[in-house]
Amino acid sequence: LASIRFDVAPVAEGSSVTIMWRGLPVFVRHRTPAEIEEARAVPLSELKDPQTDEERVLEGHEEWLIMVANCTHLGCVPVGESGDYDGWFCPCHGSHYDTAGRIRRGPAPKNLVVPPYEFVSDTVVQIG
Ligand code: FES
Repeated sequence: LASIRFDVAPVAEGSSVTIMWRGLPVFVRHRTPAEIEEARAVPLSELKDPQTDEERVLEGHEEWLIMVANCTHLGCVPVGESGDYDGWFCPCHGSHYDTAGRIRRGPAPKNLVVPPYEFVSDTVVQIG
């Protein structure tokens, strides 16, 4: 299937689920206001792969962070709610991602990849 639909309603604030899209694991993270604030407070000059939080989420749905769950170093699946930047930590070689999934430290060269997606209703997201 080229695209999938997923109802995010059961995903509580502060939690995540991993779903499959085109054979790839995808994180669907329901961010807390504090996580969003933390991501938005980071100056772009501190980022290895500079992207604002606003570029990585949809306006009006900022609480949802949707990303391919493969580390951009060599593809391991990072662990959520961990690492030095309160986002994800990849235990394979020690890459730390922040609450917007942006690479902050370690060998990964790029931010976690945001796939194409849109909300087709208040709670249903279509990925792909
Ligand atoms: Fe994630 Fe190497 S695969 S740090």
